[in-house]
Amino acid sequence: MGEVLLLNKTSHAKRRQLVVGNWKMNGNQHSNAELLAQIVAGWQGEHSADVVVCPPNPYLIPTYDIIAGSPVLLGAQNVSQYDVGAFTGEVSAQMLAELHCKFVIIGHNERRRLQGETDEQVAQKFMAVQRANLIPILCIGESLAQRENGWHLEVIRRQLEAVFAHVGRDVFANAVVAYEPVWAVGTGKTATPEQAQEVHRFIRSQLGGLAEEVRILYGGSVKAGNAEQLFAIPDIDGALLGGASLDAEEFLKICKAAD
Ligand code: 13P
Repeated sequence: MGEVLLLNKTSHAKRRQLVVGNWKMNGNQHSNAELLAQIVAGWQGEHSADVVVCPPNPYLIPTYDIIAGSPVLLGAQNVSQYDVGAFTGEVSAQMLAELHCKFVIIGHNERRRLQGETDEQVAQKFMAVQRANLIPILCIGESLAQRENGWHLEVIRRQLEAVFAHVGRDVFANAVVAYEPVWAVGTGKTATPEQAQEVHRFIRSQLGGLAEEVRILYGGSVKAGNAEQLFAIPDIDGALLGGASLDAEEFLKICKAAD
């Protein structure tokens, strides 16, 4: 790890660490109940980190029934950009708020790539989430080809600009950014500390007056074995987890590393 990364994190002690489990399209009622019971048992009392689970929509209510009264918070994986109307199959931010969600992941690379979500749609969703007084977790990140061409910061800048163009920068006081390099998601490859710090610092530099306040998560093959090293990086404020959030022991180890 380069010397610049050995700084301690006191400079941003005011940013509460955040660990978010994105279950994606996994689990069933039985496995979810087991997973959540273990998470809740292992995450009681006061903590200096926030922990969020984002199950598939059909499981939001049973999930909330288990985590209610614990410090574990509820999030959703996606949302409609519209508030109400003839949008078959869609779910509004207001509906998610009614089901006790506090956070909504938007612009995940799987939705951008597989569902063709555009920067413009992501910006609309960001606004819809904030209209419902929920906190958007805005995912951004470059593909392998973009990184290999040296375009990663430009891609990040463009993805952020698309949102700034609609809402400005000030609304990021109630938002979280997640840097998820596409090539690191579900691949077992993690960005090196230097790569992660470069992008996280760059993201911060784009946030104007809120630069030092906004939580910026890292996502992409975070595991119990690499979480501590990632969380020691000055501009990383927690993690957005995929695979590791489906295993209670692994998930709790990562939450504790952030705590
Ligand atoms: P993995 O942790 O499985 O790489 O997934 C990361 C992710 O996409 C979280 O949103």
